[in-house]
Amino acid sequence: MRIDIVSIFPAYFDALELSLLGKARQRGLLDVAVHDLRDVTTDKHRTVDDKPAGGGAGMVMKAEPWGLVLDKILSESPTVATDAEPLIIFPSPAGEVFNQGMARELAGEAHLIFGCGRYEGIDQRVFDEYAERGRVKLVSIGDYVLNGGEVASIAMIEAIARLLPGMVGNPESLVEESHEGESGLLEYPSYTQPAVWRGREVPPVLLSGNHKKVAEWRHAQRIERTRRVRPDLLPPEADQGSVGTQRELQN
Ligand code: ADE
Repeated sequence: MRIDIVSIFPAYFDALELSLLGKARQRGLLDVAVHDLRDVTTDKHRTVDDKPAGGGAGMVMKAEPWGLVLDKILSESPTVATDAEPLIIFPSPAGEVFNQGMARELAGEAHLIFGCGRYEGIDQRVFDEYAERGRVKLVSIGDYVLNGGEVASIAMIEAIARLLPGMVGNPESLVEESHEGESGLLEYPSYTQPAVWRGREVPPVLLSGNHKKVAEWRHAQRIERTRRVRPDLLPPEADQGSVGTQRELQN
């Protein structure tokens, strides 16, 4: 997968060198390029914003720098000679809310472009221009307001990149996670050695060696936790205690 990121703060994306994402890049599963929006400006002050038309507080990002940088990225897209089409994502609190399902869909894309707005946002004509010419999506990472799209882009890129084939050593570890697998329940609590830490015991069932009992306990924990923390995620049949993935019941 190719990812291009446009931002006036490219240093935010140094974080993408770390850990799993860094590994994905080294292994050639992920090709990431970060572009400084100011690099396409031609004036002394490298201006990317201006006063809002119609008045009001704050500044709006000008259309032309965005047009120049996006045209260049699109013309160099690895999808140019293929059937695939790049998808431009503008992180925005006004967008569709990102979730695990969207991460899975986006992990199947060949080329993602993240356009990180700042200030009061980007001139609307940028969205209109590229939506007419191709695919554009406004995406929010939750119902709160950040100062710009950088942190939101990093969150989305991490969620997407770890789903790329060949990324996670054990694909089963993805299945059991919160929001993954068939059930959509939250993850069960995990423990490791020692069996007692500061007087707190690992639940004895986890040390029993009885795989069926362990699976039942974990499943009950998932339902209890989901009911307590995120009742909106509970499927209706969970009330009867009959929710279970095939995997859990087999193990
Ligand atoms: N930019 C500012 N707030 C945001 C949010 N909640 N999600 C995505 N992008 C944003």
